[in-house]
Amino acid sequence: MLFESPGRYEVVDVEVDEPKAHEVLVRYVASGLCHSDVHVLDGSHGGHVPMCAGHEGAGVVVDVGPGVVGLAPGDHVVASFIPSCGRCRYCAQGRMNLCQLGAHLQTGPMPDGTYRMHHDGVDLHQFLLISTFSQYATVPEHSLVKVPDDVPLETVCLLGCGVGTGFGSATNSADVRPGDNVLVLGAGGVGMSAVQGAALAGAATVIVVDPVPFKREMAEKLGATHTYADVAEATDFVRSITDGQGAESAILCMGQPTNTDVGQAFAAVAKGGTVVVTGMAAAVEPAAIPVHLLMLAGMQKTIKGSLFGMCNPPVDILRQIDLYRAGKLKLDEMITHRYPLDDVNVAVDDMLAGRNIRGVVMHDA
Ligand SMILES: NC(=O)c1ccc[n+]([C@@H]2O[C@H](COP(=O)([O-])OP(=O)(O)OC[C@H]3O[C@@H](n4cnc5c(N)ncnc54)[C@H](O)[C@@H]3O)[C@@H](O)[C@H]2O)c1
Ligand SMILES: [Zn+2]
Ligand SMILES: [Zn+2]
Repeated sequence: MLFESPGRYEVVDVEVDEPKAHEVLVRYVASGLCHSDVHVLDGSHGGHVPMCAGHEGAGVVVDVGPGVVGLAPGDHVVASFIPSCGRCRYCAQGRMNLCQLGAHLQTGPMPDGTYRMHHDGVDLHQFLLISTFSQYATVPEHSLVKVPDDVPLETVCLLGCGVGTGFGSATNSADVRPGDNVLVLGAGGVGMSAVQGAALAGAATVIVVDPVPFKREMAEKLGATHTYADVAEATDFVRSITDGQGAESAILCMGQPTNTDVGQAFAAVAKGGTVVVTGMAAAVEPAAIPVHLLMLAGMQKTIKGSLFGMCNPPVDILRQIDLYRAGKLKLDEMITHRYPLDDVNVAVDDMLAGRNIRGVVMHDA
């Protein structure tokens, strides 16, 4: 629980209501810790408190409310931080990451405006609707994707946010093509997934920038061809192998990108190149990217945001499971630490100190 922001997580008992129409009660087995859980903690995104955070989980269906389709008690599910209704104008276009249900993500109650989680008689906001740091939560059916029973929930929990976000940032948003030179800036759980997406899409070079040596070592195990501590060195390198042109794409996956970072990435991509902004900036970052407008048009560059890597959760989470089973998407290797729920703040500290790639919080059986 987060009672104030900035603050620290506290482990308390909560009451969870039974599911109403189109809702599902889930027993979470595990939850990855994503930097977005830290943004609400350190106050860089504010967030509604009191709140139960966690938004990258997997578990087992306990009960379903009236009208739920395709889910039954005992089913294994991944909880996606992006809900997808399947019928709004965005879902109907195959752009489910932009589903209209997203309007409820930053508010806290269920889409009907009422709460399912309480503590001492006080309603609790559910972060991104799913609150995967709670062992039990009642969530919208559209936030859940049924997954096969034989994949480990304590691993595929990463598919609820970080993996699809990074992987899709490379394969969808940057549209990496065979032979591309790709820069990935920031090698946490999201960045490592972008590295894997770029490598699987056939990038000739995947150049990672991260100030932390451990991250650079791990990136090389997950598909990076070159690593640097500093974006200027990485930019010099990519220009040196492209006749001075630069990378086809640069994907920003650092914990808190700044306008300056976007400007540097813009300079590092070639004519026609794409800068993908995946990392979430602090809310106070001013609306002022230092990009010369003449260069934007004259060099035909693109700067684009990417939400959940433009993934369609019900489709892409299952495709990522297929890639994991085929040994092509490395998830176990990204999970460097597992923590009991009582140590959730240790997981946060380890993330901020650069000691883990993905930390996974384990709930008691
Ligand atoms: N767009 C989306 O849909 C979406 C979804 C999930 C997470 N995110 C965001 O993605 C970002 C990354 O999340 P994460 O969980 O991988 O975080 P993380 O903390 O695990 O990883 C961030 C990495 O960036 C590195 N870093 C910090 N400053 C850097 C710099 N200037 N240059 C290069 N590397 C730098 C850190 O050393 C760390 O390895 C966060 O901002 C998070 O909120 C976005
Ligand atoms: Zn996340
Ligand atoms: Zn929708």
